Amino acid sequence: MLKDPEHHLALQMDVTQQSDVERVIAASRDRFERPPNLLVNSAGVLRMSPFLDETEACLDTMINVNLKGTFLVTQVFIKALLERNRGAGEERGAVVNIASTSGKVGPPLMTIYAATKGGVIAFTKSCAAEMANKGIRVNCVLPGAIATPMTADIEERLVKEFCNRNPLGRLGKPEEVAEVVVFLLSRRSSYMVGACVEVTGGTDM
Ligand SMILES: NC(=O)c1ccc[n+]([C@@H]2O[C@H](COP(=O)([O-])OP(=O)(O)OC[C@H]3O[C@@H](n4cnc5c(N)ncnc54)[C@H](O)[C@@H]3O)[C@@H](O)[C@H]2O)c1
Repeated sequence: MLKDPEHHLALQMDVTQQSDVERVIAASRDRFERPPNLLVNSAGVLRMSPFLDETEACLDTMINVNLKGTFLVTQVFIKALLERNRGAGEERGAVVNIASTSGKVGPPLMTIYAATKGGVIAFTKSCAAEMANKGIRVNCVLPGAIATPMTADIEERLVKEFCNRNPLGRLGKPEEVAEVVVFLLSRRSSYMVGACVEVTGGTDM
């Protein structure tokens, strides 16, 4: 639960719809009289399936949420941020994209998901290279398997197999990823640009 509710605003949006993203950034700017300066792109969907059974509908859904959503929200956010002047050398803001180690290693049953997360990694680096001299740092986090609703339905047998291969012998906790995200958003990571930080407990090193 966040303290000081008058200083926070929760708004819902569909990240695949540009007009919806623009509505939310504008509402936030109106409420706080300045655009938001920190962004975490965490919306994502995972459907596991053998490659030959994958469908065009699944392809569209995962590309739209995982890749197009990350692109759209980042673009609308950064455009709003650039409307504000900044002092020389001052940091305007920071973006953290939640990719996945799947985008690096390409596990079986995840052809589409892995492709979208690989896209998020490449997008992060390219965007970071363009935005650094405008005072906006863009980085990404590559979580391994984390205990969240996304992994709750994965067969117990597969989770056990995973834990046996993981050097720490367990799934990660959401807060263990959040700690790294907070660091990447803060000035403590001021020299990190286009970085891909793995939070995996040692799997797929
Ligand atoms: N859990 C893991 O093991 C794991 C591993 C690597 C990466 N990730 C990534 O971490 C991020 C967070 O996932 P999570 O594990 O917390 O799962 P989650 O299912 O709890 O969270 C995903 C969120 O995305 C939201 N979402 C889906 N479609 C959306 C849309 N069109 N517009 C706006 N929001 C939408 C969902 O409502 C949900 O709240 C995702 O990008 C996921 O791919 C998760």
